[in-house]
Amino acid sequence: METTDAFAGLECVDCEATYDPADATHRCPDCGGILDPSYEYDAIDLDRDTLESRPFDSMWRYEELLPFPRETAVTMDEGATPLVECPALADELGVERVLLKDEGRNPTGTFKDRGQTVAVTAAKHHGATDVALASAGNAGQAAAAYAGRAGLESHVYLPSRSSFTNKAMVNVHGGDMNVVGGRIGDAGAAYEEALAEHDDWYPVQTFVTPYRHEGKKTMLYELIEQLEWTVPDAICYPTGGGVGLVGLYKAATEFRDLGLIDDLPGLYAAQASGCAPIVEAYEDGRDEHDPVENPDTICGGLEIPDPGASPWVLEAIRETDGGAVATDDPDILEAAVQVAQHEGLEMVPSSAAAASGAWELADRGEFDGDETVVILNTGSGNKEADVVRSHLMGQGI
Ligand SMILES: Cc1ncc(COP(=O)(O)O)c(C=O)c1O
Ligand SMILES: [Zn+2]
Repeated sequence: METTDAFAGLECVDCEATYDPADATHRCPDCGGILDPSYEYDAIDLDRDTLESRPFDSMWRYEELLPFPRETAVTMDEGATPLVECPALADELGVERVLLKDEGRNPTGTFKDRGQTVAVTAAKHHGATDVALASAGNAGQAAAAYAGRAGLESHVYLPSRSSFTNKAMVNVHGGDMNVVGGRIGDAGAAYEEALAEHDDWYPVQTFVTPYRHEGKKTMLYELIEQLEWTVPDAICYPTGGGVGLVGLYKAATEFRDLGLIDDLPGLYAAQASGCAPIVEAYEDGRDEHDPVENPDTICGGLEIPDPGASPWVLEAIRETDGGAVATDDPDILEAAVQVAQHEGLEMVPSSAAAASGAWELADRGEFDGDETVVILNTGSGNKEADVVRSHLMGQGI
């Protein structure tokens, strides 16, 4: 198995056991904990000039900090997304700068591509023939796309509420699509059942494969470089399972430990009030979430009632002096409309929760006026244009 020079192996976040990535492929064989790729940071010789001299063409330009060499990757040049200045939003929030990291420009229209390029590359290295996952929708679409490119079969389990685009594109990519009645938990149960019957299926499920949060790290590397090595005061991240937030946290500590930045950005988890287990745990000072009994939000990607990695997500928020904020669905849709009308940028509802959360933080007086705030637009607005459009109905438009 070909890996990058500094990639040292996989470390269990619970029991700290370490494993050879050729042997351990998913969760910790000893305790079932999440495995996290680790590196010999002393062996990584990366400075600002070296990175700046590379074309801004793909997230794989940070290959020293990824497990697999770029030339072996199943890649469609994902990442390298723009960080767009939003002056009208900055005025509205009363801060110095607001920038939107536009992950909608990825091959399948969301940041999920960053996770799947690494996870499907690992699947290929491990000799898999089939990959499988349950997903709210976008990750399933991304997995089907990358599996197709790698010549692998994909088995995708989506809840019936997934968007039309997600379902259509899983089919278009040639995936084996399974639409399951109910919500994400029901899709997860159907996937587990199918997996138990197919021991040759390779999971590319969140925090089951060690490689999805690893790919998401690159969002932070890029935005720091795009800000010319300054660290934003706040990054608002639309949080479901928290995969991306954990990735941002890991990346920030890596860049700090490599001497590329001095401070960590404040990481803010934005959720929808109808399913906000991370925000509730944060506000109550708990280290772990309580599952939400009756999740109900229009933001499909955020409707994750039982996010297993919540201790890690809460650590990321607290260690970076960030925060957590929940807003209501109508405010989230209104934020998507306002951003579209004043900045031209198109946000999917799940992602508009980050814009709506930033507004709410400003209303609460979280900002002084001189901050740089980054909003993660995790997905393109045209994935769920009908849902955003529906918000105008009540206004007679
Ligand atoms: C558009 C979008 N934003 C955010 C999320 C939540 O991501 P995470 O699991 O990293 O919290 C999802 C997950 O499905 C999503 O599709
Ligand atoms: Zn373990």
